Amino acid sequence: METEGEQLCEAARNGDVAKAKALVESGADVSFFDSDGLTPLMHAAKLGHTDLVKALLEAGAPWNALSPSNQSAGDFAMDSGHQEAYEALLNAGIQAELILGTIARKTKKNGDFEGDYLEDRVTFSEDKLMDSDSKAVMMAWEKPLMEAHAKAVCSGGGNVLNVGFGMGLVDTAIQQYGPTTHTIIEAHQEVYARMLRTGWDKKDNVKIIFGRWQDVLSQLESYDGIFFDTYGEYYEDLREFHQHLPKLLKPGGIYSFFNGLCGGKEEQLWSAISLTPVC
Ligand SMILES: C[S@@+](CC[C@H](N)C(=O)[O-])C[C@H]1O[C@@H](n2cnc3c(N)ncnc32)[C@H](O)[C@@H]1O
Repeated sequence: METEGEQLCEAARNGDVAKAKALVESGADVSFFDSDGLTPLMHAAKLGHTDLVKALLEAGAPWNALSPSNQSAGDFAMDSGHQEAYEALLNAGIQAELILGTIARKTKKNGDFEGDYLEDRVTFSEDKLMDSDSKAVMMAWEKPLMEAHAKAVCSGGGNVLNVGFGMGLVDTAIQQYGPTTHTIIEAHQEVYARMLRTGWDKKDNVKIIFGRWQDVLSQLESYDGIFFDTYGEYYEDLREFHQHLPKLLKPGGIYSFFNGLCGGKEEQLWSAISLTPVC
């Protein structure tokens, strides 16, 4: 006898919106994981049933749940070439991030904000930088991706800005291109202290600005290449940074960024975009 959760997964595979809605109304769990570790939303996404994806999202299905192979419903939709379903999931993720960002900001203003990454301890090991909840801020396997970002933002030479030092992977790669100036903004005290210990402040072309990028904007100039990769921030912060780009980036300059809006590693592929502003 199938459980309601299993029936919901089957309805999702069949693209049966009416059946899925009826099951949800009768109490079926939209967060159900079947024996393969997949949710109804993942099944619907994998097969490109966009209407069902939308109905499940409306019913509160978690867009960012991960399968045993660390894939989200969005990853399944993208891998199977279901663009419409992928976009529905991406929009749900962005909306959730906007709402969470607003809540976090309001809570912060009220003074009872907890879990501010910048106030907490971080731990460095050979291959990762971890926050106080043992979540990875940065991992060594991201090196090739950081090297690609560095290549992009250094392609015009000149003055380069990097926001967020982390393990210094992108900055090490940027140094290899010998930019005229290389400005680095870092807000975490311990990361900053490690930059000093490892001699980043002694490099001829490097200027370190300690502080949150939001607070040090007045110290910035215009750059030929900019890379942005912070941690513990929201989509709203990324959007706010983008609003400063017309001033921060020289005409024809290259901007590239990383964000962590999706659940798995795939996020890094679609966020590795460089752009040239029209300004
Ligand atoms: C994911 S790591 C960056 C990794 C880096 N791209 C690398 O190649 O190693 C994010 C960094 O951004 C810093 N950070 C977080 N919020 C920031 C902010 N508002 N302004 C500047 N730096 C910030 C964090 O302390 C952390 O060092």
